[in-house]
Amino acid sequence: MKITGISGSPNVGGNNERIIEQALGIVEQKGYETDKILLSGLSVLPCTDCGTCRTAKECPIDDDMTDIYEKLETSDAFIISSPVFFGSLSAQLKALFDRTILLRRNGFLLKGKVGGAIAVGGSRNGGQEFTIQAIHSWMHIHGMLVVGDKAHFGGIAVKPVESDDVGLKTVRDTVNMICETLERLK
Ligand SMILES: Cc1cc2nc3c(=O)[nH]c(=O)nc-3n(C[C@H](O)[C@H](O)[C@H](O)COP(=O)(O)O)c2cc1C
Repeated sequence: MKITGISGSPNVGGNNERIIEQALGIVEQKGYETDKILLSGLSVLPCTDCGTCRTAKECPIDDDMTDIYEKLETSDAFIISSPVFFGSLSAQLKALFDRTILLRRNGFLLKGKVGGAIAVGGSRNGGQEFTIQAIHSWMHIHGMLVVGDKAHFGGIAVKPVESDDVGLKTVRDTVNMICETLERLK
């Protein structure tokens, strides 16, 4: 089974990417295959609502989504981390989310996959919970199985993440919930 980590940060080597590395390290130790999508190094343009994907499983925008569609379709679960930007998810991650309407319109191809969310802010209470709920909305609208951290909503961290012991525990707990859910589905 493959778990894919997605970082919605524009910063190479930033807090979100480091947290995704940690999360994937945990699941690799449990024996899962992993993959990652780091939006800092990819070009994903916004959906233009052209309607092409209503009638064909293709998007006329020529960018890195072609490879991302393949990674999404072949994953069993996702751990998605976004920086908090003005109280919500990054524009980079939102662009990816909107472009996945192609997968929804062509057979609900993400349905039944497992998803968990992480948000990293510059402030302790900077909007992480709302950001996680925005990621969960995307997951629900695809018919995915959404998990939190056992107690609350998911991974809630403040930068620098390596100093945030409480936040890192919520990340580990979320990752473990994803793995436990995958085991139940076997
Ligand atoms: C445009 C912008 C808006 C931001 N808004 C918030 C915010 O509303 N709340 C918050 O806690 N941090 C906010 N931040 C701080 C980022 O969340 C923080 O720098 C980011 O999570 C760091 O992750 P990275 O190192 O992976 O890029 C903002 C940063 C930028 C650039």
